[in-house]
Amino acid sequence: MRTLAVATSLRLSRAGYDVTILDSLARRDWDREHGLDSLVPIAAMRRRIDEWSRLTGRTIHFKHVDGTDYPNLCRFVTETEPGAIVHFGQQRSAPFSMIDRDDALRTHLNNTVGNLNVLWALNDHAPDAHLVKLGTMIKYGTPRRLPPRRRSATGSTTTTSSGPC
Ligand SMILES: NC(=O)c1ccc[n+]([C@@H]2O[C@H](COP(=O)([O-])OP(=O)(O)OC[C@H]3O[C@@H](n4cnc5c(N)ncnc54)[C@H](O)[C@@H]3O)[C@@H](O)[C@H]2O)c1
Repeated sequence: MRTLAVATSLRLSRAGYDVTILDSLARRDWDREHGLDSLVPIAAMRRRIDEWSRLTGRTIHFKHVDGTDYPNLCRFVTETEPGAIVHFGQQRSAPFSMIDRDDALRTHLNNTVGNLNVLWALNDHAPDAHLVKLGTMIKYGTPRRLPPRRRSATGSTTTTSSGPC
């Protein structure tokens, strides 16, 4: 969990909390697949955590876990016994989710399944933990232009795909 999560983690760590970052590192893979990169260089997670430790003497832990992998997520929750989870782990880019059907579906599955898994993992393994969630979902995957509506003989209106399938 990156843009927001690293900044949040540093702040919580500085405030004295024991912080563990969980990330599937999917963001980098998605960027690579589409030939994209950050406008500013972003160091690897390990390096950023090490630098924080060097500067402050504090430790931030890191776990490479995919939130859509429920058994691994449950293991993470059981092992870390969180008092709170701050959940930023989503595909966050609306334009990415609208590139084509595959990316729309990928965004939807990643974000929806990930959200449900976090909720169920907390329910099953850390029911007293707090959850703070920031994410946008509803518009993701919706094409810019909806296909034309057709009126049937019975008067009902249907929306059909104008695509090749
Ligand atoms: N950055 C903003 O200004 C902003 C504003 C409003 C809302 N948000 C929302 O906040 C959330 C975080 O935004 P961000 O800018 O930090 O995004 P980001 O892409 O920088 O970070 C998201 C991180 O989540 C990880 N991730 C994605 N799916 C995962 C999964 N299934 N399991 C584990 N890790 C996963 C990615 O690898 C990535 O490192 C998003 O939901 C976004 O929509 C961000």
